[in-house]
Amino acid sequence: MKKLGIIGAMKVEVETLQNAMTGKRIQSIAGMDFCEGLLEGLPAVVVECGVGKVNAAVCAQILCSCYQISHLVNTGVAGSLNAKLDICDLLVSKDAMYYDVDCQYVGYAPCVLPGMPETFEADDSLIGRAFAAAESIKPGHTHIGRVATGDCFVAKKELKEKIVALTQASCVEMEGAAIAHTAYKNGVPFVILRAISDKADDSAEMDYPTFEANAAAFCARLTEALARDLAQDE
Ligand code: ADE
Repeated sequence: MKKLGIIGAMKVEVETLQNAMTGKRIQSIAGMDFCEGLLEGLPAVVVECGVGKVNAAVCAQILCSCYQISHLVNTGVAGSLNAKLDICDLLVSKDAMYYDVDCQYVGYAPCVLPGMPETFEADDSLIGRAFAAAESIKPGHTHIGRVATGDCFVAKKELKEKIVALTQASCVEMEGAAIAHTAYKNGVPFVILRAISDKADDSAEMDYPTFEANAAAFCARLTEALARDLAQDE
């Protein structure tokens, strides 16, 4: 029996999903409201974790430890790192990595934590099913690629270029790799779903507030479509 843990950093990324759930029960842990019920007929727990890596990891661990989730999904908005990824396009994670980790002085590759893999690999079946769901929503505007994560809102061309050189990622955001890392440690399959809200360059300060809600709505639709597809297995 599947049970999806679904994490979004902000209210705008989770509220549509929580409103669409039936049979809801809410439990507050570590200041986060875990909303458990059925999404598209599938058992799910949808939660707003707050922005950044630590909030995301704490939340993901609670889902793994307290809710017996079978799969973990991170949904939300991201800055594009790839000219082919335009505002409101959809991105399904192939893998995720931190761009703000540096242990090179003690012999590790850039972006790699001691004892951890170079990237956290998303689940192949979830990638395929999420890609098909995304294509049904935005045909020709869906990509599979790498997610780069760090505790910065990226709004300068120089930082964007540095992140691309370090990670070759398709998008940048602030939670995905921390959720992927937690999923890896718990042996839980995961995928990160993102809709592009800005280009993570000097235009981001203007674009983000303009497109945040629209992009978040696209990603919520994608998450619902994935839940609907997974529900058909049960
Ligand atoms: N989420 C959406 N846009 C972002 C950006 N430019 N940097 C970090 N996280 C983001």
